[in-house]
Amino acid sequence: MPKDIQGTTVVVTGGASGIGLAIADAFLQHGAHRVVLLDLNAEQADQATATLNAKHGNKATFILCDVTQDLDQVTKVIIDTYKTVDVLVNSAGIVNERNPRKVIEINLTAVIEWSLKYLEIMRKGGKGGTIINMSSMYGFMVDPYLPTYKASKFGVLGFTKSKGHEYNFKKTGVRLLAICPGVTKTNLTSGYKNFEEKENQEDFVATFDSFPWAEVTRVGQAVVEVFGKADSGTAWAIQGDEPVFEA
Ligand SMILES: NC(=O)c1ccc[n+]([C@@H]2O[C@H](COP(=O)([O-])OP(=O)(O)OC[C@H]3O[C@@H](n4cnc5c(N)ncnc54)[C@H](O)[C@@H]3O)[C@@H](O)[C@H]2O)c1
Repeated sequence: MPKDIQGTTVVVTGGASGIGLAIADAFLQHGAHRVVLLDLNAEQADQATATLNAKHGNKATFILCDVTQDLDQVTKVIIDTYKTVDVLVNSAGIVNERNPRKVIEINLTAVIEWSLKYLEIMRKGGKGGTIINMSSMYGFMVDPYLPTYKASKFGVLGFTKSKGHEYNFKKTGVRLLAICPGVTKTNLTSGYKNFEEKENQEDFVATFDSFPWAEVTRVGQAVVEVFGKADSGTAWAIQGDEPVFEA
């Protein structure tokens, strides 16, 4: 199981922007051999790929992908092309309290399906690897807001902690980690004033404004730190500029 980023092939869902892109950038900065960005948003992904390639040499590629539809087909292309994947980062995610089914499909069901597929590819007999699943501070803390989003992120934490449990890790050799960022400045949070129902909006906005907001680059660097030290089945919170802590 590599805890060294040097020479790794890293696949990032939702890699066209925000936290996924910051993780891709940080992994390249720390010696990853290549990153494969998967995203629905081709325009944003093309820009992201060009930026990473200009910064790190031609080490980033993009494959158009809807995580709820394209798992088998895109994974075949990745394995045919690169033979191996060392790290999978499941970062694609949305907030949409008006469409619970879609939130659960993207934020939770897809994370489970992608984890199970890559676990089989990486497991003993393969060369091991790490799966990093994006939960949230809303994967463990409770307030009155974003109940569907919270359900998806609590789910990611439950899945990752149990599938990545030492008991399973001993059998598979594949490490599963959950990341729980606090509020981070990305495209996703730019629309936060409209996240909640009208009747809750004012209180929600005041609550969100009171949280420490992190820069996305901080989250990318913190994930590299966690990658270097974390045991399988653990979850790590990143809030503002505070040191990372186990959640
Ligand atoms: N920004 C925050 O404050 C924050 C905090 C905690 C957790 N998170 C989580 O971090 C992850 C990344 O969020 P972000 O803030 O970087 O948002 P973002 O909107 O910048 O990035 C999300 C990316 O996912 C892609 N995506 C959405 N649906 C997809 C699908 N079906 N298939 C493929 N790609 C898809 C989007 O096109 C986008 O590029 C999400 O899982 C989010 O829930 C964000």
